[in-house]
Amino acid sequence: MNSLAANSVINTGSVSTDASKAGARVGLKSDKIVINGGKPLRGRIEVRGAKNLATKAMVAALLADTPSTLRDVPDISDVGVVTGMLEAYGVSVTSVAEGELRLDPANVEKAHFAQIDALAGSSRIPILFCGPLLHRLGEALIPDLGGCRIGDRPIDFHMDALRAFGAVVDKSYEGIRLTAPDGLKGAMIDLPYPSVGATEQVLLTAVLASGVTELKNAAIEPEIMDLVAILQKMGAIIWMEPNRTIFIEGVEKLHGYDHRALFDRNEAASWASAALATDGDIFVGGAKQQELMTFLNVFRKAGGAFDIHEDGIRFYRGPNGLKPVQVETDVHPGFMTDWQQPLIVALTQATGTSFVHETVYENRFGFTDALIKMGADIVVHKDGLESITRRVPRRPLEQAAVITGPTPLHGADIMVPDLRGGFSHLIAALTAEGQSTISNVGIISRGYEHFIDKLALLGADFVYEG
Ligand code: EPZ
Repeated sequence: MNSLAANSVINTGSVSTDASKAGARVGLKSDKIVINGGKPLRGRIEVRGAKNLATKAMVAALLADTPSTLRDVPDISDVGVVTGMLEAYGVSVTSVAEGELRLDPANVEKAHFAQIDALAGSSRIPILFCGPLLHRLGEALIPDLGGCRIGDRPIDFHMDALRAFGAVVDKSYEGIRLTAPDGLKGAMIDLPYPSVGATEQVLLTAVLASGVTELKNAAIEPEIMDLVAILQKMGAIIWMEPNRTIFIEGVEKLHGYDHRALFDRNEAASWASAALATDGDIFVGGAKQQELMTFLNVFRKAGGAFDIHEDGIRFYRGPNGLKPVQVETDVHPGFMTDWQQPLIVALTQATGTSFVHETVYENRFGFTDALIKMGADIVVHKDGLESITRRVPRRPLEQAAVITGPTPLHGADIMVPDLRGGFSHLIAALTAEGQSTISNVGIISRGYEHFIDKLALLGADFVYEG
């Protein structure tokens, strides 16, 4: 019964630039999917540009004085949110071909607060508008931020960095107001932690600040390197030195770019875990080995097999069954925090006890409650676990999950808590015997392009009620 309901809100065409629709898709509590599980997923799906690059590349277009073209843009609601934000600031965003956006910043102007406030509530990207808006308009007003509820997500690194550039930060009842009465000047910044967002904040601000910026303890995720490549195409001068140090020499102006976004390695790892959990066989078109190396090692140790091809990677189970693993999430080149949720579903089917230490976020195991309800044996240690084989030093916010398997999963009624947790619920329902109803699945379209269509392509048995 592979059927998409008539009132499905999933688009299969070109990138949606209708931000209000995107926002509606995020918040639809009635959005649900009924899955009859226990059937392996088999077939080929494609992944396009990374959510965590494409959205930032769109913000970078604000820095230019000529239009930019971004290719392989995924049709996800976070792209809709950033589109709405850019349009509110007078940037013209047009979908010129499937997955291709043209962003023209010729008429940048101040936005109405209500307009940006309505959009910002569902994403964390708006914080990255600070530097570009200060350069273009001399001020920035950032409403309260959205994004996944995975514990406290402070923005102190962002604000400290902006202050170092010379920005004045005022808190108001509307959010945060920034001004730069003396312009923005290159700064020495040493991040307390290699934060992805704060590194992007510094890059997007430093490229047009006067003088040289030295950023120590920077994040070096592949998506950040792709953003650096975009900024270099625009005319920026950026170089790297050993030990996570990035230098940026400010330039007077930047022009538009033409760029194909890096593939979404989080989506690729998610479908790989779906193949592992359901004993399926999925070819992920567009996935590349280089950016997935750390994931591929863990996948292999857990009993997964993969074949690397020019145009993608095939994922399936190896001949000797699933094995337990010990994983620590970390900044790049470590095992990404966004990969642990789908992998944990597969680990419920491994023979033995796996340990997953979450070291990036303070509360990213909430999704395991639903897996336990479905029959998984998972114990979450809210203060983390010590072990002599640990590689990273403990962080105060750590948590650990201990997963003992194999445990058959059974269908259940569950609700999606956040993006990655939500996708893991889908995998769990596909793995489980019997019927599951998952509500609030609209959140998943924040980061997984056309996931309903992809489930149908892979032979999943479900009914989607949008
Ligand atoms: C990005 O979030 C991604 N989001 C996340 O993807 C990803 O999990 C994360 O990087 C790590 O790779 C986007 O790119 C939109 P951080 P970001 O700043 O930039 C602390 C997904 O599902 N911190 O590297 O917000 C923070 O609390 C998601 O796609 C501060 O303390 O992550 C966390 O513990 C969710 N103060 C750690 O640093 C700050 O000012 C890492 O966060 C900023 C961060």
